[in-house]
Amino acid sequence: MTVYRFPENFLWGAATASYQVEGAAHIDGRKPSIWDTFSAIPGAVMNGDNGDIACDQYHRYPEDVALMRDLAIGAYRFSVSWARVRPDGASGPGGVNRSGLDYYSRLVDELLSNDIEPWLTLYHWDLPQALEDRGGWTNRDIVQRFVEFSLTVHDALGDRVRSWTTLNEPWCSAFLGYTGGVHAPGRMDGTAGLVAAHHLLLGHGEVTRELRRAAPDANLGITLNFTVADPADPSDPADLNATRLFDAQFNRLFLDPLFRGEYPADLLADLRTAGRHTEFEAAIKDGDLETISTPIDSLGVNYYHGELVSARPDPNGISNEAPVERPVKSPFVLNEDLHVHMRDLPRTDQNWEIQPEGLTRLLTRLHREYLAGSSVLMYITENGAAFDDVMAADGRVNDTKRLEFIRSHLIATHAAIEQGAPVVGYFAWSLLDNFEWAWGYAKRFGIVYVDFDTQVRTVKASGRWYAETSAANAVTS
Ligand code: BG6
Repeated sequence: MTVYRFPENFLWGAATASYQVEGAAHIDGRKPSIWDTFSAIPGAVMNGDNGDIACDQYHRYPEDVALMRDLAIGAYRFSVSWARVRPDGASGPGGVNRSGLDYYSRLVDELLSNDIEPWLTLYHWDLPQALEDRGGWTNRDIVQRFVEFSLTVHDALGDRVRSWTTLNEPWCSAFLGYTGGVHAPGRMDGTAGLVAAHHLLLGHGEVTRELRRAAPDANLGITLNFTVADPADPSDPADLNATRLFDAQFNRLFLDPLFRGEYPADLLADLRTAGRHTEFEAAIKDGDLETISTPIDSLGVNYYHGELVSARPDPNGISNEAPVERPVKSPFVLNEDLHVHMRDLPRTDQNWEIQPEGLTRLLTRLHREYLAGSSVLMYITENGAAFDDVMAADGRVNDTKRLEFIRSHLIATHAAIEQGAPVVGYFAWSLLDNFEWAWGYAKRFGIVYVDFDTQVRTVKASGRWYAETSAANAVTS
């Protein structure tokens, strides 16, 4: 038996996001977000699901917080619905929906009275539809709207919330939303994705500056989704180039401006060669990169799987994308000669490969190439897996595969820490089975099972194991 002991004060958390768990979509002044609109498009979300009810956490948060306390969860990562707080995206005091803010105030109080740290994400994808109607993230005006929304939330909760994440996975917002059309708002335009990415980053930078001014001691950060891209054939220059392109568009497009104050030179050159640079370059104004690279305290790392990349299509033609029933596009602006292959690895029920050692490589790379010499700390803000759970006759959910998935990724995290990567916390995705975006309710990620007909919660084997692990501050295998 090996015991992997984690550093003292390692944070054991669990994560969710507003649209995925809250429900209560049409009450107390909330207005439609882009996800309400998008879910209504035939074929956009599996089985026509939406977040109208989801886990009904809006009404059941006391029960969920009690569950977290029983599971020895030290921090709850949740997000604030912009469409609840500034439903029309409108400016000024008149645009604020007090009852929306009050919900988060009650949630935060409940967490604190149970000794659970509130870990707040400002934007986890549910933009007010009214703002999308004005161009959404492709309109530079959104940056000021985001600042205003963030300060409204901070004014209400800043006295009790110390950890603030500006954005969750801007790659997904920009490229799944505006280029691939797989996520809301469902646009399919490469240029729009690039421009949206820039405005998301700029919004992050502006909000970070404002929050730093308002709360110098706050823990400020951003959460990015990362992958580790390996060439299908490491001796083939075309595969190596495809891997570089993948890494540039997925990882470095966000890391370089945040930590180096510049966009990747190779990507800019490729965009020029392809004639796809004009709108993106025009969107970047003097001073923007300085704003984007405003120092942060923590980098949130979301990791699910790696990618095997090739210049040629996968001969087996398998895909790990959501099986949407409408035409979508590649989320990559430069996508010719860029293909993902499926390697011979165990997979989750979403066909995502299980590759824990990729997480060690990712964390050590982030440390080596971006964080070394800085005081920025890393938190795994999401990691987890979808498996088709079954409730046994005795009412138990023995999700051994998920338990092993989390165990192996914690061991991979431990290995990175041993190699010097400053990782100080881990949040399981997800606390609850929930609305998994384009997959609807078809895929379950929770360490707690949710019966969506009755809203009854049942702690899965992975949840019980996670509680023991958190209490022991150690993983045993
Ligand atoms: C991350 C998101 O991309 O992956 C989560 O931040 C999401 O919100 C998770 O639920 C799982 O992905 P999906 O597409 O299966 O919901």
